[in-house]
Amino acid sequence: MAIERTLSIIKPDATARNITGKIIDKLESAGLKVVAQKRVKWSTEQAQKFYEVHKERPFYNDLVTFMTSGPIVVQVLEGENAVAKNREVMGATNPKDAAAGTIRAEFAEDIERNSVHGSDSAENAAAEIKLNFSDDEIVG
Ligand code: TYD
Repeated sequence: MAIERTLSIIKPDATARNITGKIIDKLESAGLKVVAQKRVKWSTEQAQKFYEVHKERPFYNDLVTFMTSGPIVVQVLEGENAVAKNREVMGATNPKDAAAGTIRAEFAEDIERNSVHGSDSAENAAAEIKLNFSDDEIVG
C-alpha cells in the first residue's frame, strides 16, 4: 500500500477545551504519524483562502469566523492510505452521524464545531500541505 501524507487541523473548539492530546492519541493509535505540527492562529484571509472551495456555501462566513476564533493545530500526517485513514478516524462531518469511537463522535460539539479537519483527496492534501508548511518543516 502507498505511503501518503494528508493535512490535519485540530480546530478552535478542541484547542479551547485542551483536548489536542486526546485527538493526537486517536490519530497515532490509528497508525498515522505526525511528521509536521504547529499551533497557529489564522487571519481571516488565511481561513478564507483555505476554505475557498466552500465560498458559495451558506455556512462559509460562519466557518471562517469559527476557524479564526482561536488557536488551531495544523499537522501533516503520514501513513498507509493516510487520506482515507484520517477521514475514517475523524468520522462524519456531523457528529450525529459519526461512527462510535471516531474523533467527531467523541469530541465534536456540532456540525461546525467538529474538532478536526482532514484533506478529502490526495490532490487536495498536497495543495493544503503546501499552503501550510514549507518542505523543511516536514520531518518524516
Ligand atoms: P465539508 O468539507 O463538507 O466536511 P469535512 O470537514 O467533513 O470534510 O465541510 C467543511 C467544514 O465546513 C466542516 O468540517 C464544518 C463546516 N460545515 C458547516 O459548518 N455546516 C455544514 O452544513 C457543512 C456541510 C460543513
